[in-house]
Amino acid sequence: MTLVKSESKCENDIFCGINVPENTQDVESMTDLEKKHLPVITAPESVKKGETFEVTVEVGKYKEHPNEPKHHFEFMELYAGHTYLGRIDFMAQITEPVMKMHVTLDHIHGDLRAFAYCNLHGVWMGKAPIEITE
Ligand SMILES: [Fe+2]
Repeated sequence: MTLVKSESKCENDIFCGINVPENTQDVESMTDLEKKHLPVITAPESVKKGETFEVTVEVGKYKEHPNEPKHHFEFMELYAGHTYLGRIDFMAQITEPVMKMHVTLDHIHGDLRAFAYCNLHGVWMGKAPIEITE
């Protein structure tokens, strides 16, 4: 089970729990901090069972995030529901915080969930629904 801030006692500690914007459907309602850190998943909404598909995760899509030694994203992880799919580490300035992964699922696990860790602002989560069809 993933503990998010609303279920925890972490409201005032950005490094406690997982940061999730209140409303990811309405970008205009997000704070600048949320816009900079939300992992945005691009993937098909529906795939056939056993069909390989591409998933892209980006941060700073709605507002640019720094990529310098003192402030940068260190890693991203991708899950289908609670099933771990993979991870990528980044080096400040040299690599951009973008993750591309080819995924093959044979049954539904739940939403795609991406986690991104900023060295100054903690872990952030973005989700995207996905349907597996026969
Ligand atoms: Fe940050």
